[in-house]
Amino acid sequence: ADTDKGTYPYYMLKEVDEQAVVARNLSAHYFDEEGNVQGIGCGITDSIKEADRLYIVAAGTSYHAGLVGKRYFEQWAGIPTEVHIASEFAYDQPMLSKKPFFIFLSQSGETADSREVLDNIKRQGFPALTIANVMNSTLTREADFALPVLAGPEIAVASTKAYTAQIIVQAILAYALGDVDLDLKAELAKVAVEISAITDDKDCFKKIADEDLKGQKSAFYIGRGLDAAVALEAALKLKEISYIQTEGFAAGELKHGTISLIEDGTPVFALLTQAKTAGLLRGEVAQVAARGANTIVISSKSLAKEGDAYVLPEVNELLMPLLAVIPAQLIAYYATLARGLDVDRPRNLAKSVTVQ
Ligand code: G6P
Repeated sequence: ADTDKGTYPYYMLKEVDEQAVVARNLSAHYFDEEGNVQGIGCGITDSIKEADRLYIVAAGTSYHAGLVGKRYFEQWAGIPTEVHIASEFAYDQPMLSKKPFFIFLSQSGETADSREVLDNIKRQGFPALTIANVMNSTLTREADFALPVLAGPEIAVASTKAYTAQIIVQAILAYALGDVDLDLKAELAKVAVEISAITDDKDCFKKIADEDLKGQKSAFYIGRGLDAAVALEAALKLKEISYIQTEGFAAGELKHGTISLIEDGTPVFALLTQAKTAGLLRGEVAQVAARGANTIVISSKSLAKEGDAYVLPEVNELLMPLLAVIPAQLIAYYATLARGLDVDRPRNLAKSVTVQ
């Protein structure tokens, strides 16, 4: 059954491995034979097309998925998009545009912080869509529209397949709204193949975790643009289960403060998949290396250099987060295993937080 660990020692590893299948299931659900989007009612697309701005509201990993999705809505659908942390938006609502449309992202569909925002904006009369993994949950029922993430049950507290699936659904929705010269169905088929190729490289990520994180109390993930968004999720994965204090941030910010934290041997992971900023990021990697950091570069094929720790296969650049996050998930998994901790049940955390 879906909720059975099978031969896997932990749900997290099973769920990481399932990501290629989830990508294929999403394609089968949301595309017809010709590669046209299906399964997204015109109620949703018409309502979004009337909006002048999208507001994505979410918590935790789902918030991080929203930071990636924003790029699709802006670049493929041409709609200005803001991404907000639910617990902040609920009590510190920003000034809204004239015709806002809300998108709630949630694995569980039950997060109290997001529910509070949905209540608030419904009272103000604004339309909302919930993209959730658990359908028939509070957030899907109470929004005007709902779309399924189809990741299947996610049991490990650290979210993995729900993140990549939420990114894919946002990509498909933005693609349906826009008119881009791209065969997204074909691109996603490639993504699924390459996710499998990366999850097959477990030995490599175990080695990185064992060698580069052994005995470490802190670590960093850096990137620019989409890689900065993925760096936040990568850092959350590592810190929430291994308890290694990890910061993820935009690499250009190093020089404005964080670089003073770099000591001899501090692990700094750099995600390098975006061509426009690859040169700048290489410079930042060199700067931390010069201050003693142990730099671990995860790059995409066309941007790779000798000495990089892992080279990702190449897909459409905007879809690279779907690949770049996988090494981080697996490095977090193996670092946690090496510390003898319960990968699936980190201390103090719940899978779904139904209190504010
Ligand atoms: C909890 C979980 C996180 C999750 C967050 C938002 O804190 O531990 O993994 O990202 O809630 O949950 P949601 O179900 O709304 O995506």
